[in-house]
Amino acid sequence: MLVPDGNTFLVHPMAFAGPCKPTSISFLISGIIIAPNSPESWKGRNQGRWLIFKGVDGLSVDGPGMLDGRGKGWWDILCATHRHLPGCVKLAPTVISFLQCNKVSLSNILVVDSPQTHILITGCNNVVIRYLSIKSPETSPNTDGIHISSSHGVFIHNTNIGSGDDCVSIGDHTSDIYITDVDCGPGHGVSIGSLGRSGNEVKVDNINVIRVRFNKTTNGVRIKTWQVGRGHVRGVLYEDVNFMDVSNPIIIDQYYCDVRGGCESTRTGVQISDVRYAGIFGTSKSKVAINLNCSQAVACTDILLDTILLAPSTPGKKVISSCNNAYGSSAGIVEPESCLLE
Ligand SMILES: *[C@@H]1O[C@H](CO)[C@@H](O)[C@H](O)[C@H]1NC(C)=O
Ligand SMILES: *[C@@H]1O[C@H](CO)[C@@H](O)[C@H](O)[C@H]1NC(C)=O
Repeated sequence: MLVPDGNTFLVHPMAFAGPCKPTSISFLISGIIIAPNSPESWKGRNQGRWLIFKGVDGLSVDGPGMLDGRGKGWWDILCATHRHLPGCVKLAPTVISFLQCNKVSLSNILVVDSPQTHILITGCNNVVIRYLSIKSPETSPNTDGIHISSSHGVFIHNTNIGSGDDCVSIGDHTSDIYITDVDCGPGHGVSIGSLGRSGNEVKVDNINVIRVRFNKTTNGVRIKTWQVGRGHVRGVLYEDVNFMDVSNPIIIDQYYCDVRGGCESTRTGVQISDVRYAGIFGTSKSKVAINLNCSQAVACTDILLDTILLAPSTPGKKVISSCNNAYGSSAGIVEPESCLLE
């Protein structure tokens, strides 16, 4: 399938559904594909999706084209930011969704102005995303760059994400995720979570964030869980990470709630263990540069802080680390000083 160069195509919400006979399918996007400008075009369809690939194996989607979600019409009526607007909408389309796909790749494409999440990977195994650019204004609401859930073996590399919300967010039932050589910002950083909202058994294993640079994001590397959650987040590596003027560079927040402080404390918690922060440098906009706010009910264990140098963005200010029920050890220089319990 070829979307030719030199043209702009208006494409209505569309699903490409498998299974397909060939073991590999190439989808080349050289031109520009734009979404309908108004929510009207979604009447009677799933308002959460624009372009969908479902149950397609061996698919490669390649550029050098562009997908323009033309999200502004949606951002202006989203309940999240316009609560009092009559007829506001809760759900807006994701530009491109891969659902139940195996062995897929997405490369060399510019994805801009998604109404909500830009790229969604759900129920997929063995996914490669590379040489992508994702751009939306800093103020656009709920516009995660890439959201992954119920997927195993996802590789995101050499990609530039400035989407306004999380650059990458990793949901439940995920394992073997590798995010390497990525530039993130403006936005909310790279998040694992939020997890456990409905008191469910969380299962997240082997997440790697390596050689990622954060520029002026409101969080850096974050793990966020709801107090009612159970299960585990196990085996997380953050290595060679750079922060430029970032708020909350390192943060574990096990008290996540839609209204800060609005959720009751419980005797449950998602168990976070074996998390390594190694080779972390840069500047913090917030005073608490390392914030390990673990569950009061279920401690974080085997946290390693290894070679960390975080300075305040504004010279002369002070940065600190803060721990709550966080156990582990430190190695090499750690600035601000480790607060982990042995
Ligand atoms: C960081 O982002 C700002 C805009 O917010 C940009 O001007 C600057 O070039 C970026 N710095 C790097 C090193 O990418
Ligand atoms: C940890 O979470 C609690 C509950 O939300 C909050 O009151 C506290 O300020 C947090 N600690 C830090 C250092 O952010």
